Amino acid sequence: MKFLIVLALIGAAAAAPLSADQANLVKGAWDKVKHSEVDILAAIFSAHPDIQAKFPKFAGKELSAIKGSADFALHATRIVSFISEVISLAGNPSTAPAIETLVTELANNHKNRGVTKDQFTEFRNSLTDYVSHHASWGDNVASAWNQAFDNIFQTVFSHL
Ligand code: HEM
Repeated sequence: MKFLIVLALIGAAAAAPLSADQANLVKGAWDKVKHSEVDILAAIFSAHPDIQAKFPKFAGKELSAIKGSADFALHATRIVSFISEVISLAGNPSTAPAIETLVTELANNHKNRGVTKDQFTEFRNSLTDYVSHHASWGDNVASAWNQAFDNIFQTVFSHL
């Protein structure tokens, strides 16, 4: 019995890598928004001012005043490019270790900045909300997207 419980726990914790078809659904949705870097970061900051407050260049400033700046575009592009890179590697078992490495680095960088699990979850929720309103979003896309972020966040949370 104990053995079965242990197995169930391991099963629940194990990542479920995306199939090629699932990865294509995620890529299709992401392709619709990945050039809206500034809008995406602005939506996240607007929904969660505590995330904006962590950025030394943007803390304490009005979103409307920083949204058009070069610094804002630069940061937004860094964040969105990271997500583009991870999504481009999804759906292929041979690139799974590369995703793991990238996401582990991300988690460690952010841990050093004092970013919390709750803030990562806020970020995820806002990002998902943005994509779901700007791309075709059926149950199949939602399920592939959620599986991708469950996998990413499992790694992030194991390092925070
Ligand atoms: C999946 C979620 C996230 C992704 C993909 C992401 C991505 C990135 C990337 C690519 C960078 C630039 C490279 C680096 O310095 O590490 C960065 C920097 C940063 N991120 Fe994130 N991030 C995420 C969540 C968050 C959250 C939730 C916060 C705050 C609550 C945050 C705060 C920061 C800060 C403060 C910087 C440094 C900015 C600076 O250089 O002045 N990030 N992030």
